[in-house]
Amino acid sequence: MPPIARPRGTNDLLPPDSALFAWVLDTHRQVAEAYGYELVETPLFETTETYERGTGAGTDVVEKEMFSFTDRGGRQLTLRPEATPGVLRAVLAAHLDQQRRPVRVHCAGPMFRYARPQAGRYHQFWQVDVEAVGESSPALDAEVVEVAWRFYERLGVHGLSLQLNTLGDLQDRFRYRAALLDYYRPLEDRLCEDCRRRLDVNPLRLLDCKRDAGLVAGAPEIGPSLGPESRAFFAEVTGFLDAAGIPYSLNPRLVRGLDYYAHTTFELWHESLQGAQNALGGGGRYDGLAEVLGFPPTPGTGYALGVERTMALCREQGLGPEPAREQVVVLGVGRAEAQAAAAVARRLRGLGIAAILDVSDRRLDRRLSAAARRGARAAVMVGEEEAARGAATWKDLDTGHQETAPVADVAEALYGLLSG
Ligand code: HAM
Repeated sequence: MPPIARPRGTNDLLPPDSALFAWVLDTHRQVAEAYGYELVETPLFETTETYERGTGAGTDVVEKEMFSFTDRGGRQLTLRPEATPGVLRAVLAAHLDQQRRPVRVHCAGPMFRYARPQAGRYHQFWQVDVEAVGESSPALDAEVVEVAWRFYERLGVHGLSLQLNTLGDLQDRFRYRAALLDYYRPLEDRLCEDCRRRLDVNPLRLLDCKRDAGLVAGAPEIGPSLGPESRAFFAEVTGFLDAAGIPYSLNPRLVRGLDYYAHTTFELWHESLQGAQNALGGGGRYDGLAEVLGFPPTPGTGYALGVERTMALCREQGLGPEPAREQVVVLGVGRAEAQAAAAVARRLRGLGIAAILDVSDRRLDRRLSAAARRGARAAVMVGEEEAARGAATWKDLDTGHQETAPVADVAEALYGLLSG
């Protein structure tokens, strides 16, 4: 029988890579919390309607990529392809926006999209996400961009390009839609099947088409369709970014793949990520989303960043957490000292030292080199005689220096060693 295989489009997260993953998530949490974003956690699945209405019926995500199922009670459910509609639902259903505005929240978790798997594109992938709900201030759009930017800065990633655009308000988009229809109608015969279908549903989607890229290049830009208020709003966003020293490229074609955006949209690109997968993340303002989900109109803005793509970039640029060296390996020299060694390890942990018990039967020198290989700073050895008098021998694995002392003194020496 062949061994059971991992489902297509999924990843296993194993050491040592899992340390990089944890570092990316921790860094994002720290940066988001420094701006006042608080943790939320919402279900991994929502009603299918949440995405049909929220993410948008004419999007690739909803048309082609949802993992949907009927539960045993006949309810239509979908594994979340993105966090935004679920998080907004949770925040508004709990009336958090009536206690304070904006409600600033962040989350991290797996998302599910049935896109053709390839490098950087999976059926299950992780996003880190922030959402700011309840204010339509351009300062908030600039803030979420800044959080994303500072996050990558903190990781040490270089070579990012921030792509920025505005889609204006509803009226601007009506005007833009009409301009796009005027342009595309006469070209209908030359359009791919998807574009032809989407022309009536949402012509903005056509600007995302890779197959009709030649036609996209000639399509009208949104600029002339923008009213004075939208222009002023966007000017404020860019003003805040300029003041924060965050560089951006204006990209009038950046419409994003999801239906709910209005005003500011942005993406973070890196050239080393290939082709259509070059976006590390993106986001923008979604003032109409609350209403389509059945809540009172409530503005919002936010972003999501792909964790696997971010990790790939970190690997490529040699970025990662400091190797964990603040640990020691404890071993009983012979079988008879196994319990004494476990007791010493327990005592050390009680004093706040990460102590890993070596339970192998190998020769002592092999065990010491294994401890050094796993990155331990010191080894603590408990032999027969030491066990009898409550002592242990600790060895600095960098210098080779070793000392035998009562366990309390060993703990103190290790504490000094580990805290540098
Ligand atoms: P999105 O652009 O659909 O935005 O996804 C954000 C990021 O998730 C992408 O740039 C990419 O890094 C990652 N991603 C998307 N699909 C895949 C996949 N199949 N495999 C691997 N990574 C992937 C959103 O999801 C919006 N909810 C962002 C947002 C939040 N807008 C406002 N608030």
